[in-house]
Amino acid sequence: MDLLYRPRRLRTSDTLRKMVRETRVSKESLIYPLFVVDGKEIVEEIPSMEGQYRYSVDRLPQIMDQLINAGVVKVLLFGIPAHKDACGSQAYDEEGVVQRAIRFIREHYPMVYIVTDVCMCEYTSHGHCGILDGESVDNDKTLEYLNMIALSHVKAGAHMVAPSDMMDGRIGSMRQALDEAGFVNVPIMAYSAKYSSAFYGPFREAAGSAPAFGDRKSYQMDYHNRKEALKEVELDVAEGADIVMVKPALSYLDIIREVADRHDLPVAAYSVSGEYAMIKAASKAGFIEEEKIVCETAVSIYRAGADILITYYAIELARFMDEGKIG
Ligand code: PBG
Repeated sequence: MDLLYRPRRLRTSDTLRKMVRETRVSKESLIYPLFVVDGKEIVEEIPSMEGQYRYSVDRLPQIMDQLINAGVVKVLLFGIPAHKDACGSQAYDEEGVVQRAIRFIREHYPMVYIVTDVCMCEYTSHGHCGILDGESVDNDKTLEYLNMIALSHVKAGAHMVAPSDMMDGRIGSMRQALDEAGFVNVPIMAYSAKYSSAFYGPFREAAGSAPAFGDRKSYQMDYHNRKEALKEVELDVAEGADIVMVKPALSYLDIIREVADRHDLPVAAYSVSGEYAMIKAASKAGFIEEEKIVCETAVSIYRAGADILITYYAIELARFMDEGKIG
């Protein structure tokens, strides 16, 4: 055959394949989600997320040391309070579990960059992401609470805040609140395109945050929609978001790609609890090879256009990068 083009030519050796890779990944872009629980001496495994734990503040060194050894120096904090009420008051309490965790990490692990999830569902007795008016979440009233939560995190020492509530106008309102308090350099990573997803199931078990009635469909997005995601991102950009996020990741690679193509801001993708649980369960059953699937799925998210990856597999991925398996 007299072939002019032979794409296989560039696949003839590992060295060559690595040279022509189109997607490069790095540990700098990994963020590890971390659950901090009220109480003492607690390290409890999350049943639906084998290998993931809830830690009390005093036991944080157990995971922080692992993260630092792996070269993962960014965390996304979630709090699980002992006490929940209708307005999620523990979420903005100076002595709340996240606020104490932030101070602990700042003191003992100054090299770690702390992002906090700003939401109410882990803190409210009804499990919804805001203040209720009857059975629905009151958007504008919730904004005031979200601002209080974000400010309390930043005052405790958080470097970045990540609102995940999906209320309208929250980015603009939070930016203004942070600026007025003098925190002009604290970035906001907006959960911009956050879908109402069954992939959050294991997280809700981990955080005890399943809604007591109804669902989150009146604030999180319908997964049939694409243009709506672009609209949400556009609004967050206009309101002053510094980083925009798409969540979940694997079933939403098309959205990640489109957001990355249309916007100049860094794009984060959150590979959520259900994605982790599926890989864990199938590998445990011996149906798939965990390591290879973790590498392939992570790279697919970057290839789709993500600059930042939030993943429960951050420590393993950092090792795979060191070992040259991806990168
Ligand atoms: C809080 C929040 C959730 C997740 C991140 N922030 C749960 C939800 O919206 O129900 C999910 C993360 C995961 O599944 O790993 N609103």
